[in-house]
Amino acid sequence: MTSKKISFIGTGKMATALISSIYNKQLAKTIIASDKNNKNLNNVKKNFGIKTIKDNKEAVRNSDVVFICVKPQDFDEVLHEIKNVVKNQLIVSIAAGIKTKHIESILGNKRIIRVMPNINCLVGEMAAGFSKGKFATKKDVDYVEKLLSASGLAYLVKEDLMDALSIISGCGPGFFAYFMKYLAEAGIKEGLPKQMAYKLAAKTALGTGKLLLEKNMSPDDLIAMVASKKGITSEGLKVLNKHKVNKIIQKTSDAAYKRSKELGK
Ligand SMILES: NC(=O)c1ccc[n+]([C@@H]2O[C@H](COP(=O)([O-])OP(=O)(O)OC[C@H]3O[C@@H](n4cnc5c(N)ncnc54)[C@H](OP(=O)(O)O)[C@@H]3O)[C@@H](O)[C@H]2O)c1
Repeated sequence: MTSKKISFIGTGKMATALISSIYNKQLAKTIIASDKNNKNLNNVKKNFGIKTIKDNKEAVRNSDVVFICVKPQDFDEVLHEIKNVVKNQLIVSIAAGIKTKHIESILGNKRIIRVMPNINCLVGEMAAGFSKGKFATKKDVDYVEKLLSASGLAYLVKEDLMDALSIISGCGPGFFAYFMKYLAEAGIKEGLPKQMAYKLAAKTALGTGKLLLEKNMSPDDLIAMVASKKGITSEGLKVLNKHKVNKIIQKTSDAAYKRSKELGK
């Protein structure tokens, strides 16, 4: 695995998280990055000392594995730009919604893997999913699984489940952070120092996830452990239930799912 030359096209938020993991764990022979955004490109150069260039085609030519990490709306432009220089490279797309079939329709019969990473990769706690294109091999799948697993969880799924997986893995950190923000703000409103409230919320979220995973518990099991009869959690949960926050979460996820589907059209 460490013998591969990996390139990144696009060095924004998600690419930086992946580069940081691959760099820190020494999972590549070399990492090269290209981007049209100088600020992002300079940041990865400064932080990881990797080779950076302004030419996507040159990045592809110099690699065995190419991560395409641009926004879905910039994706086709990149595919058209690199299509003549993609030979035997494994192409890994992290773009929300974009189907491997679409990538194959532009690049030809190339080996494509579609990944939905998450930003928690930055701290080695990623929950990712991936699926294979028609021409990707078992070796490619094993390689990507190992690479992603070095930073957390990585599930291989059928491609038609990638949009569903994206709601949890791709959007999840944002959704959880939203809840944590308002939980912390409620504490701040009642007098807690700001930094303390944010840290308490973050540590509570971290511990909640850890508890579910390590004790193999369901969310309902955990709710039952915390919400003692007539206790303070129960009072709060009554409000969540009364205002049907579960329905709001469903609607939130439906909107994200719909958007992921739209991006794939
Ligand atoms: N952020 C997440 O948590 C997350 C999670 C899962 C998946 N993803 C996926 O990851 C991809 C990147 O998201 P992001 O949040 O990292 O976006 P981002 O921070 O905006 O990074 C994208 C980078 O690509 C650059 N770029 C645009 N067109 C280019 C081109 N033709 N050639 C080279 N570079 C180009 C952008 O430059 P400019 O700034 O100049 O446009 C920017 O530096 C998206 O497809 C998204 O669906 C993101």
